[in-house]
Parts: sequence; structure tokens; C-alpha cells
Amino acid sequence: MSETKKAEKKKAGKGDVEVGRLTRRKVVWAGVFGYLGVMLLGTMRFFFPRTLFEPKTSFRIGYPVDFGLGVDTKFQQQYRIWVVREAASLYVIYARCTHLGCTPDWKESERKFKCPCHGSGFDMQGVNFEGPAPRPMARCHLELTPDGQILCDTARLYERKDWDRSEGGKSGPYLTV
Ligand code: FES
Repeated sequence: MSETKKAEKKKAGKGDVEVGRLTRRKVVWAGVFGYLGVMLLGTMRFFFPRTLFEPKTSFRIGYPVDFGLGVDTKFQQQYRIWVVREAASLYVIYARCTHLGCTPDWKESERKFKCPCHGSGFDMQGVNFEGPAPRPMARCHLELTPDGQILCDTARLYERKDWDRSEGGKSGPYLTV
């Protein structure tokens, strides 16, 4: 073998080792950066805690004239309430059964709220009259805003003793309309 070929072979062999070293080095750095990247993401995760964003408890539901006599169920899915309009008053029942907390349904033909879980029945005012429910359903706090809309607050609930002795008006468990 000529001297030139030997030198070329030697050079090529040395190159292989360098390529191998570079690859190992790259793998090590990739591992280090990968680890640091995961740690950084983990740290960043603390700035975005897993928070449950609950729906607002205070919201406008429209003007009193938007509601006809009887039970309006259009906010049941969104806010879990029913708006009830009587001749001279308007109130909002929080749609939670007082037995174990299921959501009853309004049965227009029977003029009552019927709980699908254990059969409790409530009249249009939310007063229990059949089944295991121990007391009437609660009513939400209502207010008239300066522009005449109804502001409903489901975080302020009234039990029957409160709405029975209330005078009505522009604020409280029911509005005088
Ligand atoms: S939860 Fe309504 S009757 Fe039991």
C-alpha cells in the first residue's frame, strides 16, 4: 500500500471517531436541553393554575315586560333558574331540589315542578307538596337596575321564611311589577 493511501485511510478513520464523538455530544446536549425544557415548562405551569371558572352569579335577565304570566324556563340551562311572573310580582326560583339537589323540570300540563330523581313535586311558587323534599326551593335576590332591567343574584338565596315576610318592591326575593 502506498504511503498516500495509508495516510488517507488513517485520516478517514480519525474522521469516523470525530463524527461519533460529535453525535454522542449532540445526544448529551439534546438530553440536557430536553430536561431543562421540561423543567421550564413545569415551572411555567405554576403560573397557569388549574382553576375552575364558574359562571357569573349576578347577571341581567331582561326587563319585567319580557316575561309573560307563568313560568319561564329559558334560563334553566344557562343559570339554573326559572323566572315566575304573577299578576303583581315577579320572582326567580333557584332550580335546585331541596331533597338532594337535582334539577326539577317544569311540567306545564300539571302546573308543577317535578324532580326526576326521587319524585318530589313543587307548586309554581316552589313550595314542596309531594315526595321527600323537606322544604320549598329557594328564591334568588332580584334588583332593578337604573335602566329598568332585572339583575338576578344566585349567590344570595332566600328561604321561604324570608320571602314570605318580604314586602316586595325594587329589591329582594321578588319584585313588584
Ligand atoms: S333530589 Fe329531588 S327528590 Fe330527591
